[in-house]
Amino acid sequence: MKVVMFGGNGLLGSDIIKVCSGEHEMIALGSADVDITNSEAVYNLIKAHKPDAVINSAALTDVDKCENNPDEAYRVNAMGPKNIAMACRDFNSRMIHISTDYVFDGKKDSPYDEFEQVAPVNIYGKSKVAGEQFVQMCAPKFMIIRTAWVFGTKRKHFVDYVIDSINKGEEVIAVKDMVSSPTYSLDLAELIKELLPLNEVGIFHGVNKGYCSRVQMVEEIMKVMNKQTRVQVLSQSQWKKPAARPVFSALKNYHLHLLDKDTMSGWRDALKRYIRFKYQG
Ligand SMILES: NC(=O)c1ccc[n+]([C@@H]2O[C@H](COP(=O)([O-])OP(=O)(O)OC[C@H]3O[C@@H](n4cnc5c(N)ncnc54)[C@H](OP(=O)(O)O)[C@@H]3O)[C@@H](O)[C@H]2O)c1
Repeated sequence: MKVVMFGGNGLLGSDIIKVCSGEHEMIALGSADVDITNSEAVYNLIKAHKPDAVINSAALTDVDKCENNPDEAYRVNAMGPKNIAMACRDFNSRMIHISTDYVFDGKKDSPYDEFEQVAPVNIYGKSKVAGEQFVQMCAPKFMIIRTAWVFGTKRKHFVDYVIDSINKGEEVIAVKDMVSSPTYSLDLAELIKELLPLNEVGIFHGVNKGYCSRVQMVEEIMKVMNKQTRVQVLSQSQWKKPAARPVFSALKNYHLHLLDKDTMSGWRDALKRYIRFKYQG
């Protein structure tokens, strides 16, 4: 398949490129190649390649930046996918769009499935919901894949922050009332490779199985590293940030389960593989 990939330089996008390149012709694009907020540029690009599929992993993912810059958040996270979805419709391409657990309000205490109501609590989540809606409205052959708490090699994230702090003997700040499903970008990229050729539509949750709080995640990282550091446990109300986070936004891969295609492993196994690969040779 010929696949155009927006967000090819990102944490998830770079692993999708790595994993899918052997099997598919991947055209990887960063923001310097095409700005997804530029509808004409997106249209011309898809017109030039006429790909079988387009993957959109480009987004403004800094939750606090989104809160302080709503116009930019809606431009990238809502209008960007809209531009891509309209071009996919016009050139008959499948569209795989990546979304987030932050579409939910986090008021439950068991993992969300794909058939539950969205109710975002911050601008990032609201702009991602708007993006999902445009994709469903415009791209007839769409798959929306929601994921959560992604870790991988391309850029720094919470797991790297904790490991850097452990290695420097510095204190780690961990918020206790933030719970979700940590997900290895490489595992999600493998899943997307399997889903790409399928003639499927709809919303899918794609996470490593299980869930934890940030505090439990720090404990697990220290266990795998076999090293300790001081942990300052805060609640969201003490951790002053511009954007509120959902308290419990763990996901369950229910749509994949119904199709017998949920191959994702547990988050502890995924975390261990990531740490072994990146930090323990
Ligand atoms: N990271 C997480 O924990 C997490 C959790 C849940 C869901 N997600 C979702 O997963 C997807 C991938 O996230 P990620 O963590 O891989 O993100 P990321 O590392 O921040 O990468 C996002 C990419 O988007 C590109 N981008 C930003 N604005 C753009 C624009 N106007 N035009 C074209 N490209 C633009 C950037 O390209 P350049 O680098 O070339 O500038 C960047 O590499 C997103 O949809 C995100 O909402 C992520």
